Amino acid sequence: MKKELEQLRDDFLGALESAGDSLGLEELRVEYLGRKGKLANVMKKLPDLAEDMRKEAGQFGNEIKKVLETAFLEAQHTVNQFEERTRRDAEWIDITMPGIAPLMGSLHLVTQAIDEISTILHQLGFVRSRTPEVDWDWYAFESLNMPKDHAARDEWETFFIQDPKADKVLEGKKGKVVLTPHTSNSQVRELEKGQLPIRMFNINKCYRRQSDVSHVPMFHQFEGLLIDKNVTITELKGVFDFFVKNFFGAERKVRLRPHHFRFTEPSFELDISCDICGGSGKLESGACRLCKEGWLELGGAGMVHPNVIKAGGLDPEVYSGFAFGWGVERTLMMRSGMNIADMRIIYRNDLRFLKQF
Ligand code: DAH
Repeated sequence: MKKELEQLRDDFLGALESAGDSLGLEELRVEYLGRKGKLANVMKKLPDLAEDMRKEAGQFGNEIKKVLETAFLEAQHTVNQFEERTRRDAEWIDITMPGIAPLMGSLHLVTQAIDEISTILHQLGFVRSRTPEVDWDWYAFESLNMPKDHAARDEWETFFIQDPKADKVLEGKKGKVVLTPHTSNSQVRELEKGQLPIRMFNINKCYRRQSDVSHVPMFHQFEGLLIDKNVTITELKGVFDFFVKNFFGAERKVRLRPHHFRFTEPSFELDISCDICGGSGKLESGACRLCKEGWLELGGAGMVHPNVIKAGGLDPEVYSGFAFGWGVERTLMMRSGMNIADMRIIYRNDLRFLKQF
């Protein structure tokens, strides 16, 4: 029996060496030290021994058991340490590495421009008013001194709203229903409120059937309207000058160029000096390609036509004023250094472009 126990001890110690991991160790423990394990099997034979040998064999058996248990605990300790270290290695984080920055959103450049335009106009006492983007023909055209079938309307490549039940354009007391092709529909809507003097601006989406490098079918315009007694063109020029100096920079110059709109008399186009050629119209390489002789066309303006004031329910003999309107995207593109060659990129949702602003 002694031999048997010694063999068992040597087997166990050998097996411990190659047990590998904690699972292998546990299997060994059950196999040798478990209740029905190899050691217990040998010790079961104790009662069969002669009495005088039994005590000695029992003691030897206990010694062997202690040896096995101690060896097992040592092996377990080593394996545990090893496994813990491997686990920590796998989880290791280099705290000196730069962090991964979360994606930051920002306002769209058109929204930023709208905010800036609003701030400048607020400084002059203009208050933002809201008008519908789906409106009657009356507000978009007729009240603005453009009778039905007038050729001037062709300039606004207008979208009409289809009646879902009939195969024709939706129509009501104030005419056909349109997607507003300009923000000038806000003029008569504001006059109708009858709260004078008027100093309002309106920034809205506008829609026209056009798409090319300088047009998108959905764009933004802002419209200003000032109505009071004794308003003159001088004030219009002052407002325009203030806006341009604040939005484009103090070095940019302005001019009013005679033009024709049905809803203003006299009418002007508003030009600002070109920043590429510095207003000279010339570059070292030849004529400036961006502007016309040093000037860029920004938008339209004029003294509100008496018929428009009348359409809004006021007496043009008493009240006069001016209006102006131009595109937000256009205004943005004319800013120094913007370098936007195709307006459509503003709405392509390409983050590589948008993230620059
Ligand atoms: N509504 C015009 C357009 O879309 C721009 C405009 C011209 C607005 C003259 C005005 C104005 O208020 O007075 O082209």
